[in-house]
Parts: sequence; structure tokens; C-alpha cells
Amino acid sequence: MESLRAAWYMAAWRSDLPATGILPTLVLNERIVIYRGSSGKLFALEDRCAHKLAPLSFGQVEGDQLRCMYHGLKYNSSGQCIHIPGRESVPPAIRVKSYPVEEAHSAIWIWMGELARADAALIPPFQGTDHPDWAMIPGRMDYEANFSLINENLLDLSHVPFLHRNSFGGGRESPTMGGREAPVEKQETTELERGVRTFRTVENAPVPPFLREQSGPLADHVTTSDFLVPGVLLLTGELFKPGSLARSGGHRPDDDLLLHRNFSCQAVTPRTDRLTTYFYAFGPWRRHAAGAEMFAKIGAVAFEEDRAIINAQQKVMDASPGIKPMLLHMDSLAAKYNRVLQRLASTARPESAAT
Ligand code: FES
Ligand SMILES: [Fe+2]
Repeated sequence: MESLRAAWYMAAWRSDLPATGILPTLVLNERIVIYRGSSGKLFALEDRCAHKLAPLSFGQVEGDQLRCMYHGLKYNSSGQCIHIPGRESVPPAIRVKSYPVEEAHSAIWIWMGELARADAALIPPFQGTDHPDWAMIPGRMDYEANFSLINENLLDLSHVPFLHRNSFGGGRESPTMGGREAPVEKQETTELERGVRTFRTVENAPVPPFLREQSGPLADHVTTSDFLVPGVLLLTGELFKPGSLARSGGHRPDDDLLLHRNFSCQAVTPRTDRLTTYFYAFGPWRRHAAGAEMFAKIGAVAFEEDRAIINAQQKVMDASPGIKPMLLHMDSLAAKYNRVLQRLASTARPESAAT
């Protein structure tokens, strides 16, 4: 899987920005310093002074500018060096790279593509703690694995009943289902301009144990998930009264039949070839918000289950040169997403780059 440069990558939660207003980060192997200027705006520069390559993240903010605190070179927010102590003028060639940066959905996003093509409208519709309709609790974890293994995991939810049998639980093929006859799951996938959409329904299926108290033992399940470049999953999970889907002809039933709704958003940010940050927020719709803390707890357990197996999978893959993974039917959505990536990369060349 290639990484696409012409995309907004989640660099951090907004709350990760320290009191100094300076945050070093790493995206697609590039060291970046994000800082908040005195105007309140965020800026992002290459985190490497042009002089002796000291990190600018050790520097200090002066107005909307950033001064390297090794020998004092000062840069403006577009990366141009504007002052060298002891010199009258600055050669224009002394500059560092700058990156478009935006705050949205309680998070900080960096555009890694060509400057002129940065468009804030392309920031994925993530949801953080500032959304009025959802009780979201954010988290993050680092993987010692290539981002593509995590994207493939999010594009293939057939792992849920197995890997997450002790967290999300249930599921039609789960070993925890015992001998129960498997309910039939229907799935439609659609290609989007910048990703893929999946609409899944399953009628009269067991409710995951942690939702049974609120929703009862059985429900009609409706899951809508978008996976958008560069690696953002937006998933709405809903439970309806049993029989709702049969009455609605398989379409999403009306809200008055709704028992429960939750949302999960996840952003996969490649740092290096073997380091990836996984940002997530998971929570119930506020009308069903009683269990927000419990969601955060179960989500953290489940995401740790993914991390443990993917880190181990990466080790096995690295120790198995020349052995290729096998592709099965459950990998078809990842293949569809790969075609979207290729289409977007071909319109953005020469910016696309393998990571
Ligand atoms: S390394 Fe930055 S001023 Fe010398
Ligand atoms: Fe998972």
C-alpha cells in the first residue's frame, strides 16, 4: 500500500500541544515542528534549522515567527530565515520547508502534498471531543509496524469476532457464539472520491455483551463505515429493534426504532517505515451517552488487541523475506481502497511516494 502525499494527516490531538505552544512531530519520515504564533494561528515548519540542523522545536516563538535557540536564526511562518544575529541581511536561499496545518475536530492536521493544492475542505470529517452529538473520549497508541498493516486491519472487519472476542465480543462467527446458527450479514461497498464506504446489516443478531443491559440480547445491526485517505476510518454502529430491517426492506430503519448508536473514528499516521501512530475516539451518541467511560475502556482494550497482533505480524513478516501474504475474499475492500489510492496518486504525480 502506498502512502499518498496529497492528503491531510492527523499529527496530534489539539490537547497534545504543550503550554510552550511548540510540538515536534514526525509524518512520512519528515521531522516537523508545529507551533502556535501569538496571533493564535498554528504553523508548521521543517524541524531542522538550516544552519547546523538543530531542531527548531528547541526554539522559541516570537510573534508568528520561530527562533532557533542554538545560534539565534529566526524564521517566519513560511520558513524563510529573516534574521541572522550579527548580519544585516539574509540570503533568500536560507529557508526551511513549511507545511499547511489546520485545526479541526479537536485535532491538528498537516497537508503533506504540494502547497498550492492544500484544501481544508479535504480534512476528513473526524469527530473529537468538540462535537455536540457524540460523547467521544480520545486516545492514541504507537505501533511498531508499517501503516499499511493497520489500514488493512481497519478495512477488514472480519477480524472483529475473533481478535476482539473478549472486548467487543459476540459476532456471527465468534467462538463466543457457541453453537448458535450464524445470522446472515449483508454488505454493500461503494467507491468514494477519496475512499470506500461499506454498509453492513445483520438481522436479529446477538448484541455485544457490554451493550446488552441497554439494548437487550438481540438486535438488528446496521454499520456504516467510510475509510478515507490517507487512513481514516469513520464508523457508525447502530442497533435497532429486532424486525426493523425486515420492515425497512434492508435499508437503515427509522430513528424511532433505534436502540443504540455509537461512533468510532480512527486516524492512521505513518511516522517512519516501522512506526505508526493510531489516533482514535470512540463513544456513544449523546442521547445514549450513559456509558461513555465504558466505551473508552472497551475501545482501549480492543485497540490494544489489534496492536499486539499487528506488531507481532510485522515481526513475522520481517523475518519472512520472499513470503507473500495470501489474498482472500475478506481482503477485497482493501483492494478497492488501493485502487482509489492509485487513482488519486496518478492525478497527483510526482507527489506520490512509497513509504
Ligand atoms: S543551528 Fe540553528 S542557529 Fe545554528
Ligand atoms: Fe480491530
